[in-house]
Amino acid sequence: MSDTISVLISEEQIDKRIQEMADQLSKDYRGRSVHMICVLKGGVFFMTELAKKMRIPVTLDFLSVSSYGNSTDSSGKITFGKDLDEPIDGRNVILVEDILDSGRTLSYVIEILKERNPQSLKVVTLLDKPDRRVVDVDVDMTGFAIPDEFVVGYGLDYAQKYRNLPYIGVITSAD
Ligand code: IMP
Ligand code: MG
Repeated sequence: MSDTISVLISEEQIDKRIQEMADQLSKDYRGRSVHMICVLKGGVFFMTELAKKMRIPVTLDFLSVSSYGNSTDSSGKITFGKDLDEPIDGRNVILVEDILDSGRTLSYVIEILKERNPQSLKVVTLLDKPDRRVVDVDVDMTGFAIPDEFVVGYGLDYAQKYRNLPYIGVITSAD
């Protein structure tokens, strides 16, 4: 079994786009602080990069859900894993996700967060595959819209592998 990975979005392109997103968010929340929530594990590389580039006070928390198992096709079933460490009521929350695919994961997480009464909630995703949408999701900011291909790198995995690639690549596996 061997995987072939071809670069779709380079490290330089990602870095530049995340800087733009951080600049915009720093402007949007000027004079306030934000509480960034990362959906583990895929969102972790994006969130830390985004947080490093922000010019306002930032706090961080993490939650995990899973919808995929080890295959490249969504099972449609979402399970909640790790919950947040801190309450979010009254805080300006930015939910950070790696990729918006069917929309099931984000719509599920957004509902849970809204019930906890944040002062505001923005949703930011690095990637979006609009062709795959099953559930409508209101996203405030997207890094890159990509075609309907399975991608890895920058936090995204295939069977838990390739998360640490510094770029986004399209994977084709020949088993
Ligand atoms: P959704 O619930 O279908 O929107 O799926 C979102 C989750 O599926 C993401 O958080 C990823 O973990 C995973 N996912 C969707 N597309 C890809 C992909 O192309 N590569 C790796 N993971 C993906
Ligand atoms: Mg994810």
